[in-house]
Amino acid sequence: MTIQWFPGHMHLTRKAITERLDDTDVVIELLDARLPGSSANPLLASLIGAKPTLKVLNKQDLADPERNALWLAHYNAQPRTRAVLLDASEIAPAQKLIQACFELDPGRGGMVKPMRVLICGIPNVGKSTLINSLVKKRAAHTGDEAGITRREQRVVLADDFYLYDTPGMLWPRIGVPESGYRLAASGAVGRNAYDEQDVAMALLGYLRGHYAAGLLARYKLPSLDVGNDEALLSAIGSRRGCLQGKGRVDLQKAAEIVLTEYRGGLLGRATLETPDEFLGWVAVAQAAEAQRAAEKAAKEAARKGRFKAP
Ligand code: G4P
Repeated sequence: MTIQWFPGHMHLTRKAITERLDDTDVVIELLDARLPGSSANPLLASLIGAKPTLKVLNKQDLADPERNALWLAHYNAQPRTRAVLLDASEIAPAQKLIQACFELDPGRGGMVKPMRVLICGIPNVGKSTLINSLVKKRAAHTGDEAGITRREQRVVLADDFYLYDTPGMLWPRIGVPESGYRLAASGAVGRNAYDEQDVAMALLGYLRGHYAAGLLARYKLPSLDVGNDEALLSAIGSRRGCLQGKGRVDLQKAAEIVLTEYRGGLLGRATLETPDEFLGWVAVAQAAEAQRAAEKAAKEAARKGRFKAP
């Protein structure tokens, strides 16, 4: 599945992040707790290099608590990295973020060396919701920072703690196919960029293997043994009365229902990847990419050889 992702914005965001990084002490990377690996932009990792990073697994209310623990352990084992769980119901999100950032860089603090934090995240990960709640709680002043980008916003979370917001971080091509499906299922990718039936079937394929109880309960199906993923989508559509002419199931409508209900948490708390699964997909994608590059190089060498002077 190819996902059309908008590279025009990416250039601007990349510039905004690069300019801000010099004066940044800690980077907060907002991730979707249902797909932490897939919702991390590899481009961001290459930009931030060795800066201390706080991984905020947001929307944890929608994710599987056991897998939340796996992801926290995975990130907390990495150098200069801490991870915390968050969701929009958190009463004191600012306190949680401030404390974790000072743990990452205890040398900062006070009016002379305020903590300067850059917050990044892909679209739909909940960044605006979080920033709005931070702004409201502190009645803090926010505003454009001259000379950086018109869309950058500074939020003062404490007298010595500044949070800089960047535009949503996109990437040009999603190199790991499994991540593409997960990003689409989570709602991170615009609807026109993918086939909803394909994504719903891939989602059902994963959920039936890992979160069968949620599916059975939601769609009141006696069993999930109805055939392949398309047959399962069809069974769900039939239960929901998504019919078109001659009693045929409208798979498109069924797919929309499944995706909307997954995004709303109605299929139960479900995380679409473990750290091991994700790392495995990345390894396979990298090997495939390396092979493609080698084949291209070999073709190029052969082409040049054909034109070599005798
Ligand atoms: P963004 O700025 O990163 O693009 O994301 P935004 O805050 O706009 O949030 C995207 C969607 O995710 C919103 O839902 C928002 O309510 C929801 N959301 C944000 N944080 C959380 C969270 O911690 N838990 C859950 N369950 N949902 C969260 P929406 O349906 O697009 O809009 P609306 O229903 O809020 O109007």
